[in-house]
Amino acid sequence: MPQNETILSLAPIRGITDAAYRRTFARCFGGFDHAVAPFIQLRQGHTLRSGERLQMSVENKRDLRMIPQVLTNNAATFTAGLRELHELGHDEVDWNLGCPYPTVAGRSRGAGLLPHPGRIDAILEQVLDGCPVRLSVKLRLGYRNPDELFSVIEVLNRYPLSEVILHPRTADQMYGGAVDIQRAVHARKLCRHPFVFNGDINTPEEFCELRTRLPGVDRWMIGRGALACPFLPAVLKGARFPEAEKRRRQLREFHDLLMGEYRHWLSGPAHLQDKMKEHWAYLALSFAEPGPVLARIRDSRNLEVYTSAVDWSFEQVLK
Ligand SMILES: Cc1cc2nc3c(=O)[nH]c(=O)nc-3n(C[C@H](O)[C@H](O)[C@H](O)COP(=O)(O)O)c2cc1C
Repeated sequence: MPQNETILSLAPIRGITDAAYRRTFARCFGGFDHAVAPFIQLRQGHTLRSGERLQMSVENKRDLRMIPQVLTNNAATFTAGLRELHELGHDEVDWNLGCPYPTVAGRSRGAGLLPHPGRIDAILEQVLDGCPVRLSVKLRLGYRNPDELFSVIEVLNRYPLSEVILHPRTADQMYGGAVDIQRAVHARKLCRHPFVFNGDINTPEEFCELRTRLPGVDRWMIGRGALACPFLPAVLKGARFPEAEKRRRQLREFHDLLMGEYRHWLSGPAHLQDKMKEHWAYLALSFAEPGPVLARIRDSRNLEVYTSAVDWSFEQVLK
């Protein structure tokens, strides 16, 4: 299924798709053209934290082009953040208008700004005046009302944006329930910017169906589907799905390289193990029976036990 014109981006998944993950993914599997990094919450009157600067350093976009993402509802803070990211070597930044968590959205940030197109308009007008980077926007259908998107798109159409990424759920839906393809089709027709569809692309079959239902869309963002099956993006670009033994070797190599990256980034075995356990929420989905794999990994109390749980897991039947 060669899809040469298809542009694929790795979705930001906070806690998972950090610099170490993106680099290791690009080395082991490929398929993505770029990635949007998990959001940085900009703080009024403050520069980025040192850990954030490290994550955003240009070095960390060598293997896979990375677009930083920011979360803010304050134009001055936004402008300062964009300047800082530009100084770090970035030429494009994404604005998060989709985060659904009440601590964020409840304070009119992320998806919480979607009911307020006037505020979005005022922020963009200030921020894009002399802006040193290109700006994209990642958004949902709405906070509670799935039609909020349409007034927001009218606003976005007035500004020079690099792309608009839509995850067609409301914030209330979080990450469950059906994605609303009909509203996505409508949004794509209204939107004058390059349009990216994001949500529930988990298999080549689902992707084929989406391509039929969203004709003309050539930009796609994939999150959980690629975390659960890291071979997916390359397969969507035309590669063959590797046979089981090759998959097992590649997944093991990915795991070991990722752990090597974190040894470098994180201090101490407890942090290392905790971080790897987070990744197993998705890695386990490569196995026919994820439950026992996950239980064994999560039960491991030290690195030695963890390592033998990993060895045991990679002997289990793959999906
Ligand atoms: C644990 C988790 C963390 C996420 N973090 C971010 C984030 O930092 N920024 C963002 O725009 N979206 C974030 N998302 C949303 C994803 O980028 C994506 O829009 C969503 O998972 C739907 O796409 P998918 O079905 O391909 O995963 C997150 C989703 C999950 C489940």
